[in-house]
Amino acid sequence: MENQDWKKIGFGYSKTNYNVRCTFKDGKWGELELSDSEYLNLHMAATSLHYGQEAFEGLKAFMGKDGKVRVFRMDENAKRMQSSSDGILMERVPTELFQEAVKLAVQKNIEFVPPYGSGASLYIRPLLIGTGAEIGVKPADEYLFIVFVMPVGPYFPEGFKPTDLVIMRHFDRAAPQGTGKYKVGGNYAASLTAGKKAKAEGYSAVLYLDAREKKYIDECGPANFFGIKDDTYITPESESILPSITNMSLIQIAQDLGLKVERRKVAVEELATFEEVGACGTAAVISPIKRIYDADNEKEYLYGTEPGKWSVKLYDKLRAIQNGDEPDQHGWVEVV
Ligand code: PLP
Ligand code: COI
Repeated sequence: MENQDWKKIGFGYSKTNYNVRCTFKDGKWGELELSDSEYLNLHMAATSLHYGQEAFEGLKAFMGKDGKVRVFRMDENAKRMQSSSDGILMERVPTELFQEAVKLAVQKNIEFVPPYGSGASLYIRPLLIGTGAEIGVKPADEYLFIVFVMPVGPYFPEGFKPTDLVIMRHFDRAAPQGTGKYKVGGNYAASLTAGKKAKAEGYSAVLYLDAREKKYIDECGPANFFGIKDDTYITPESESILPSITNMSLIQIAQDLGLKVERRKVAVEELATFEEVGACGTAAVISPIKRIYDADNEKEYLYGTEPGKWSVKLYDKLRAIQNGDEPDQHGWVEVV
């Protein structure tokens, strides 16, 4: 990886040395296995292929100034994958097994962790799929858990430069009492058409509204939404958004920085009152937003072309904790 231009690396797949796999069969999880293959030998009637029995996670490892590699909040990703599993009736991956697999995947690909200060990081993708053959709509009795990793740059090519979002009421990502709160593939399939349209029109993501009333903000594509006004960090409460671990961390950091925090319904009209808004997630980190276009009403909300002061402070603090530049007072990072 010596010749890599880290400033140019985007968010995409690349092959690394090993992935880690574990099989659930005959009612129990087996041993962790290392594989150097990028392919799976999968039964054609596997429930993941037909009925969407699959969940995934996304977390990152960072190279510190001290040469140590730190993984951010993997216990939370383990918990969320368990929640996703409960949501679509898959076998839960125990937290310890999840963490061992993540650590092994990072350790075995340690040379792919981008250098300190490059702005890039090692993205970790845990994946759980139903592998048992079924043709009726029911859960599988066999599962495969895989963890693979790759170096990545920012999800939105603009990085920390502000981008544009669009509101389009004729698309929903998730139903109010559906699977929006789980990290399952079907939600992402449901977002592809709207996402493609938004990108084709120059927006970085769709800002989804609640599917029931179209009155409140849900989330922005693959990231949660936050707004800031009157020294308050405000983020939507909704039954159909993914509980973002980055957002959860920013809520704590916001409080540490002296901001008030409100987690509540955020009406679309409130967009006109925010001083700063942003998208947050593992892949996106914080992506400041400069403009939100409400396509149905031809209305635009503008937030300035530079990142706002609180967005900068939140971003710097989060990245400093992840890199090990600042004390990890909440116990969020683990050296692997
Ligand atoms: N919302 C959706 C739909 C996502 O896919 C993600 C990415 O994981 C997020 C929000 C952000 O969550 P996290 O901060 O845990 O990565
Ligand atoms: C993440 O932020 O980790 C995600 O999973 C977002 C996206 C790539 C689906």
